[in-house]
Order: sequence, then C-alpha cells, then structure tokens
Amino acid sequence: MTINLLPMATPDLLWQVTRNDAAKSAEARAAILADPGFGKHFTDHMVDICWSEKGGWHRPRVQPYGPISLDPAAAVLHYAQEVFEGLKAYRHADGSIWTFRPEANAARMQRSAKRLALPELPVEYFLESLKQLIAVDGDWVPTAPETSLYLRPFMFAKEAFLGVRPAAKVNYYLIASPAGAYFTGGVTPVAIWLSTQYARAGKGGTGAAKTGGNYASSLVAQAEAYDHGCAQVLFLDGSGTYLEELGGMNVVLVTKDGRLITPESDSILEGITLDSVLQLGRDRGLKVEQRPVPLQEWVDGVASGEIVEAFACGTAAVLTPISELKGEHVSIVMPEPSGERVSMSLRQELTDIQYGRVPDRHNWLMRLDA
Ligand code: PLP
Ligand code: COI
Repeated sequence: MTINLLPMATPDLLWQVTRNDAAKSAEARAAILADPGFGKHFTDHMVDICWSEKGGWHRPRVQPYGPISLDPAAAVLHYAQEVFEGLKAYRHADGSIWTFRPEANAARMQRSAKRLALPELPVEYFLESLKQLIAVDGDWVPTAPETSLYLRPFMFAKEAFLGVRPAAKVNYYLIASPAGAYFTGGVTPVAIWLSTQYARAGKGGTGAAKTGGNYASSLVAQAEAYDHGCAQVLFLDGSGTYLEELGGMNVVLVTKDGRLITPESDSILEGITLDSVLQLGRDRGLKVEQRPVPLQEWVDGVASGEIVEAFACGTAAVLTPISELKGEHVSIVMPEPSGERVSMSLRQELTDIQYGRVPDRHNWLMRLDA
C-alpha cells in the first residue's frame, strides 16, 4: 500500500509511506524477538530523507527495508563523510512505546554533522522520523524484560564526485534493530583492554563526533582487546596520560566516599547515558567530578582502596561493571563489591525510568506510538 503525500519543503512534514509487501510474518518476527542479540536483525521498513544544496531537506519517505543503491563514486565510500546516532525504543507494561532523550540525540547528530561538513537535520525532522518508523514497525519493539528496539539514524554523502569537498547531495536514513544485551554473557562485569599503541582521536580531530571513521580506527585496538580476552578497549589521550573512553562507551570510576569520576575531554563523545547517570547520581547525593582523569589515578585509587568500582555506559551497553583493566604495562583488578554495586543500582534506576516502572521525574521520555 502506498500513501502519496506532498513532499515537504517546510517543517510541516508530509511523508510518503510505502508498506513492505514482503514484511516478516508475525511468527518469523516472534522468533527473532525471542532472541534478538544485538544488531543482527532489522525491521521491515526504513526512513529516507534527501538533502541537496539547492533543495534543502526534501522527500521524506518510509519505505521497505532494503539495499541502498549507491554510485561507486559516492563521496562517503572514499572520504567517509558520515555521521550516525543510536537510541532505543522501549515497550512499557501497558504496551505503549517510548524513547529516551531523543532531543539530545538529535542535537548531537547536528553537532556531529557540523564537524563532518554535513547538513544539520532539524530536530523536529529527526523526532518525526522516529515516530514514522514506529508507526509501521511498532510490533518490532520487544516485550521481554530489558529488551528494546535499537534505533540507528545515519546520514552520509551520496554525491558522485571524487573531488575532496563537502557533498552537495546527502541522505538521512533511519533503520531499527531489535536488541538484547550488547555484551554476550549479559550484564556480567567485563574485562577491558588498555590500548597504548593506538589512539582513537586527537586534538582538533573528530573524537567528539559520532562518525564512522572513529569506529573504523578503533577496530585494530578492539581486535587486540579480543585477543587478550577483553570485551572492549579503553583509549587514552594523545599523551598517553589521561583516560578518554571505550570504543563505544564512556567510562566512570566510583570512589569509596561516593564520587563519580569521569573524563572531561573535547575528543570524546558526549554520552547521553553518561549525562543521565551523572544526574541520577547527583539526585542521590553522589558528587560528580568531570575532569581530566590520569590513568595513574585509577591505578593508585584501586591500590589504596579509594576507587571501588568502574563501569562502562552507553545506549547499547546501558551500564556494565568493569572487572579489570589489562594492558601491556598495566593491570588493575577491581575489588569484589562488599554490597550492591553503585553501577548496578544506577543501572536499575535508569532502566526503571526507561521502561516506565518509576516516574520519569526529569521528563526524559518521549512517546513514539501516539
Ligand atoms: N562513546 C562512544 C565512542 C560511543 O559510541 C557511545 C555510544 O553511543 C558512547 C560513548 C555513549 O553514548 P550514549 O550514551 O549517548 O549512547
Ligand atoms: C551506541 O551505544 O548506541 C553505540 O553507538 C555504540 C556502538 C558500539 C553500538
């Protein structure tokens, strides 16, 4: 079924919706939702909005999920002019579907786009794209505890042109993928590899942008992590002194006297999970220190008993305790917790808000199916 509407030229979005005639059956979908894994399965539809230098944002569509046709000279394939986002849709007990702080993702995508010389997608288009996709693929939001539908907005240079300059043709897409735990093994503490040979970002680089190149450059270090039995890699700043972040998550240390310490740097991604967790920490009287954090402080803090926990946080991983940090010249083994981990209790509170089990006192949720 195709509903044709006028193309948009203004923020009053008029969408063209083309239903997927080959959508998965309810049984096939249920089988996927029973064990979604992470990033392996995709829903029946996707969003596509075009941008051109002359026409601005236009022709917003919902269409069947499927391959994108690209000219071999498309700029993204050569110069990696691309940005993306990641957020989740959560099913509440009454069946309604919500997402978490989507305006923050929209704003971050604008910042990333600006850094990559891509056009900024207006916030209202971003939010509308989430609602449009859920309108057709809402049945893909799983119901089992702690599962969700991972939403992946992305944008890239589609113009066929080999000169190095910002592309005059760009497309924004949104796809969705049902998600369980990011780490195999669920929410058990993970070992982290400290990369000393590779840096993720440099001064004045693209570290604060959510752009594919940052992840491409993390892959050899990530492979090194796997070789050492670690789930993720921790990067230091260019000087090798200060903590930055993991390949796909922010990092937080917890002290005995109730402080949450996390790196401040202009070359790390400003995590929305991190920001939310720090707020929940402040709400319960924990002190937040966002500042440059030397690796040595972590080493010394664990040795003296001052630092009692470390955790990783991000949309995909939520909050996951770190059991140890391994590196060529460093080994930090986190102590066994004496009571409930602060990280697990913050994780519980955050997910209780996301799944509508407790009041949303910070107004973080946006309903997607109404
Ligand atoms: N840092 C990196 C490099 C990431 O890829 C992510 C995940 O998106 C984060 C941090 C955490 O960000 P958020 O909590 O907004 O998902
Ligand atoms: C996210 O958490 O949304 C990310 O983009 C991280 C990625 C490693 C899946």
